Amino acid sequence: MIQVFNYIADLQTYLKAKRDSGLSVGLVPTMGALHEGHLSLIRRAKKENDIVVASVFVNPVQFNNRADLEKYPRTPEKDVKLLESVGCDAVFMPSVQEMYPTEVTDRYDFGIIERVMEGACRPGHFNGVAIVVRKLFEIVEPDRAYFGEKDFQQQAIIRKLVHDYNLKLEIVPCDIVREKDGLAMSSRNMRLNDEERAIAPMIYKVLQEVVANVETMSPAEMKALALKKYSDIKQFDVEYVEIADEANLQSVTDWKDCEHARIFVALQLGPVRLIDNLRIF
Ligand code: PAF
Repeated sequence: MIQVFNYIADLQTYLKAKRDSGLSVGLVPTMGALHEGHLSLIRRAKKENDIVVASVFVNPVQFNNRADLEKYPRTPEKDVKLLESVGCDAVFMPSVQEMYPTEVTDRYDFGIIERVMEGACRPGHFNGVAIVVRKLFEIVEPDRAYFGEKDFQQQAIIRKLVHDYNLKLEIVPCDIVREKDGLAMSSRNMRLNDEERAIAPMIYKVLQEVVANVETMSPAEMKALALKKYSDIKQFDVEYVEIADEANLQSVTDWKDCEHARIFVALQLGPVRLIDNLRIF
């Protein structure tokens, strides 16, 4: 039976008993509205740890858009059932007051990796992510924490947080989980209407199509082709397409300058802002 905790002190008492018995702890931080992508993180964490804790907390300080925060889907009862169905041991569902009893004033600077893409388009977003993730790490003290690669830049920020503050845990990157038609799973997908949902898989299809040209196109040509293909789909309002070095998230101008390149996209589809990415090599 899954244990549900709303208070930090209760969760810590539970975890101390587990740790005193020599058990390892895996953490899967989420904002709820869980889908198969989240469940795959729990399954992986179950294989690699004795105890798995999920957190479900819609973190207000990482939203730079009030409407997005208000409309963010919330399905707490369903989330608990889903977590239980995959053997999650405990879920931490704190209130905003429990997480932030006083005004949040921390300011992080992650340098060049946060000045591009999501960091550039959503000012303050990664600061808010870092605040909540560090707090969750300090509360849970996990041996490992699991994050999906759909939020590739978020993962880079969290790795830097762990490195810069000598946090004692392993960050485990997990592959993007996609619907059968290729759409990357996201809690936000449930806000798409039927027409938008039908066109949404084109986000990934375009990435696949342009990446297939890696032998013949320069990064600039590939980016231009992606922008052209997206602009041909009238429902898409593209915010950015970037081809970046996985190591530092800076734009790639020549393929031979980097070991691993990845293409990233953010676009608006109806009321929803969606992101996706694909490794080029
Ligand atoms: O990726 C998310 O769902 C959130 O950014 C996270 C890591 C749970 C922090 O609120």
